[in-house]
Amino acid sequence: MTVFCIDGGIFPLIFFLLIQNGNGEECTKIRNNRHYSCEGRNLTYIPSSIPSSVETLDFSFNLLPSLQKHLFPPLNDLQVLDLTRCQIQYIADDAFHNVKNVTTLILTGNPVSYIAPDSLNSLHKLQRLVLVDIGLLSLNVQFNNLTKLQELKAGSNKIQTIALPPFMINFKDFCVLDLHANNISRIKVNHTAVLREMRGNITLILSSNPILHIEPGVFKDIYLKELNIQSAFVSFDAMRYGLKALSGLNVGKLIIGNYRLSQVIKISDADYLAGLCLIHFTEIYYLQKERSPFNINMFHCMVNATKITLRRGALTGMEHVPFHQLKELYIGDHHLSIFPDLSHAHSLEKLVVVDNNAMLFHGLSDMPKLQHVDLSRNQLILQDCCSCYFRDTPNVRHVNLSLNANIWLNEKPFYYLGLIEVLDFHQTKLDLIGQFGVLQNLKYLKYLDLSYTRTTFSSYVCFYGLKSLKILKIAGNTFQGNTLSYLFENLTALEVLDLSHCGIDRIDCKAFRNLQKLSQLLLSRNNLMVLDFLTQPNLQSLTWLAVDQNSISVIKLNTLQNIPANLSVFDISSNPISCFCTQTDFILWIIKHQKIFPQSYNILCKTVSSDSKIRLIDFDTEGCVHIRRLTIVLCICAVTFLVIVSVLTYKFQFYLRYGYVLLRGYRASRQQECSYDAFVIYSSKDESWVMDELVENLENGSPPIHLCLHVRDFEAGKAITSNIIDEGIMGSRKIIVVVSKHFVESAWCRFEFEVAQSWLVMQGNANIIIIILEDVEEKSKKVFGLHKHLKNNTYLKWSGNPINNMRFWIRLRKAVITRK
Ligand SMILES: *[C@@H]1O[C@H](CO)[C@@H](O)[C@H](O)[C@H]1NC(C)=O
Ligand SMILES: *[C@@H]1O[C@H](CO)[C@@H](O)[C@H](O)[C@H]1NC(C)=O
Ligand SMILES: *[C@@H]1O[C@H](CO)[C@@H](O)[C@H](O)[C@H]1NC(C)=O
Ligand SMILES: *[C@@H]1O[C@H](CO)[C@@H](O)[C@H](O)[C@H]1NC(C)=O
Ligand SMILES: *[C@@H]1O[C@H](CO)[C@@H](O)[C@H](O)[C@H]1NC(C)=O
Ligand SMILES: *[C@@H]1O[C@H](CO)[C@@H](O)[C@H](O)[C@H]1NC(C)=O
Ligand SMILES: *[C@@H]1O[C@H](CO)[C@@H](O)[C@H](O)[C@H]1NC(C)=O
Ligand SMILES: *[C@@H]1O[C@H](CO)[C@@H](O)[C@H](O)[C@H]1NC(C)=O
Repeated sequence: MTVFCIDGGIFPLIFFLLIQNGNGEECTKIRNNRHYSCEGRNLTYIPSSIPSSVETLDFSFNLLPSLQKHLFPPLNDLQVLDLTRCQIQYIADDAFHNVKNVTTLILTGNPVSYIAPDSLNSLHKLQRLVLVDIGLLSLNVQFNNLTKLQELKAGSNKIQTIALPPFMINFKDFCVLDLHANNISRIKVNHTAVLREMRGNITLILSSNPILHIEPGVFKDIYLKELNIQSAFVSFDAMRYGLKALSGLNVGKLIIGNYRLSQVIKISDADYLAGLCLIHFTEIYYLQKERSPFNINMFHCMVNATKITLRRGALTGMEHVPFHQLKELYIGDHHLSIFPDLSHAHSLEKLVVVDNNAMLFHGLSDMPKLQHVDLSRNQLILQDCCSCYFRDTPNVRHVNLSLNANIWLNEKPFYYLGLIEVLDFHQTKLDLIGQFGVLQNLKYLKYLDLSYTRTTFSSYVCFYGLKSLKILKIAGNTFQGNTLSYLFENLTALEVLDLSHCGIDRIDCKAFRNLQKLSQLLLSRNNLMVLDFLTQPNLQSLTWLAVDQNSISVIKLNTLQNIPANLSVFDISSNPISCFCTQTDFILWIIKHQKIFPQSYNILCKTVSSDSKIRLIDFDTEGCVHIRRLTIVLCICAVTFLVIVSVLTYKFQFYLRYGYVLLRGYRASRQQECSYDAFVIYSSKDESWVMDELVENLENGSPPIHLCLHVRDFEAGKAITSNIIDEGIMGSRKIIVVVSKHFVESAWCRFEFEVAQSWLVMQGNANIIIIILEDVEEKSKKVFGLHKHLKNNTYLKWSGNPINNMRFWIRLRKAVITRK
């Protein structure tokens, strides 16, 4: 391998080494083992990773300054070799030795300075040779052995003549000579000598040459398949004389006109197309960029044509021409103010007159073969459409009246046009069509476009009778009431339905119930929130559904799980999708089925601030799992806590109540006036003693002592604890505790006693009088804290003895009465 040194410098060498040490992934396999692309890899050699079975090798944009014998490894199956812009300068004799079965060789854009005589000649099977932009000065390249050659493309060179080398006479299959953008300024009779000898039927491309002069009769009696002389003349004058000099040429398709906007035609240039009448052509393509203040009469020269295409011109009118074999007429982007008079064109099959501003159209008549009529983009205003505009045109199958201004239909608009298969009215204001079944005789109609026709569908019968309809587009219209639910009822052949931008907010499940063949449903730009209709079992053929730009925030999992099985495109982008942990199921479904959501990265979550966009597929469902776990843990904790608190409360209810009571009592203490002399704490089992002895002796004595007894004095309906505090402890100056076995056994007594003790401690006085009615065990005394009182305080002991009792009562009375 010696090629890399030609550039000199160290860079190619380094590069070479880098690539040599590379991973062998220099080229891309395009299709099985037959098609490889190494485009733009800066390679200086053919990588060994290319298998010998390769048939097409795109090696463009690499570095092969010099093509030498061993550059190409043996690639016997190679047919197409693309060496575009490889900086090839030198092609050695046996450069293509190993790829000699190539049929297409592309050398575009190489600064070739030397092609060895035998190099191309060894490619015996070559059919297409592309020598575009390689700095050729003439066609005197040595390719005389390439008898199979069919196409020679030598555009963008500096060739000055169309003369072909004599050996090409033997090229029996030769059919395309492309010499566009060369430096051909003169064409002389002897330049076409070889062409004349060849079999003819050649496509000759001479566009973008600076032709100044053509010798008359140059192409006389030559048959060309196609001649392209667009922008091939330096001036209108050159064109005028040039066309005349083509007199006698017989050509299938003639392509004339200019790519670039030319200057305005002067009166003196007006007949610059007159030469057309001297050329025999069947098809003409005229790209007219020149502007003309007057009508150029050229159609009479096209009277024998079968196909006329006129694009991008300033045509303002068209003379009457008795076309007798015209099959196709295409007039686009002109300034016609009135539709051309085609009354003699009985042979017309296809008529396209588009892109004219506010053209007047009075209708077509007597065109028995006419099938295709496209009058779109003309700002047409048609009243009482359409049969009266198509008189005796029974074979019309394709009518395009889209992008016009306003069309008023009559009740039977297509009465005589029953064969129509394609009808396009989009973006033309229409009437009637939403209210009546005006299309019902079109039983062959396959394609109907009523998008943006400002139609309000108010009747179920609009599409009545359209039993062949496959494609229906009614985007940008509106529906009255529940028309939508029944409108498509009988369209059983329907495959594509476009209902975009119709302001639909709800679709009844039965709306599509008979559309068993529906495969594409477009509902973009509506206000849908739910997609229940998708579960309709008859939509099993649906493969494409677009509901982008609606108001969908979530799709029910049930709906998603029941979408048509073959749905392969489901566009829900640009909806206010809510990404909350509660929607995890929905979000996970989308992430899992990402491949049916085109541009799933465009499905964004609705956020509070509209400028920060989160992609749904980036939504952190893991986080949701954590949050869910955390919630469960917290719930468990809370429950446990409650249980523990309940257990504790139950267990320590006594202390709680006790604390509560204390707190209440303390708060209330200040406002309380004592209404009893003493509050008696006793067990209800000692009630007989209390009533018979205590009450009897104290209350009935003198002075009477007013006792507070819970059985008698506590307010009914008030909580016991409140009574203990309000009435008993706080309402009494002293507290009498009647200690007995029953007393120590009673939780209530203990409670009352504890409260009383604490209360008195808080108050700072110890007005407790203890009566020992019965002796109790020391242990119980300790539990109650009684023993402290028994030590410090006065206590009275009851005995059955009447004398002792006298003393007992006196002492008790004294203890109660004494104010401390
Ligand atoms: C090839 O080389 C050119 C100029 O040296 C450089 O701009 C380009 O990035 C290279 N391409 C590759 C694929 O390395
Ligand atoms: C071209 O053809 C001639 C005559 O048929 C033959 O002698 C010659 O070897 C061929 N050249 C190449 C490179 O094949
Ligand atoms: C084109 O040909 C003319 C002679 O016909 C010559 O003077 C001119 O330099 C050529 N132009 C180029 C770009 O080769
Ligand atoms: C020209 O070639 C085409 C195929 O490219 C062929 O169909 C046609 O019959 C040929 N016409 C003549 C006049 O040879
Ligand atoms: C059209 O064809 C007729 C008969 O073949 C011929 O006489 C006439 O000159 C042709 N007109 C043009 C403009 O080629
Ligand atoms: C009708 O014409 C419009 C504008 O020229 C074009 O976009 C549309 O595709 C045509 N309709 C059909 C059905 O060919
Ligand atoms: C559908 O066809 C049936 C039977 O032909 C007909 O009774 C019904 O009105 C049609 N419905 C619509 C909406 O066209
Ligand atoms: C779904 O697609 C498969 C494979 O393309 C096809 O065989 C099957 O008939 C389709 N199902 C429906 C209901 O169209």
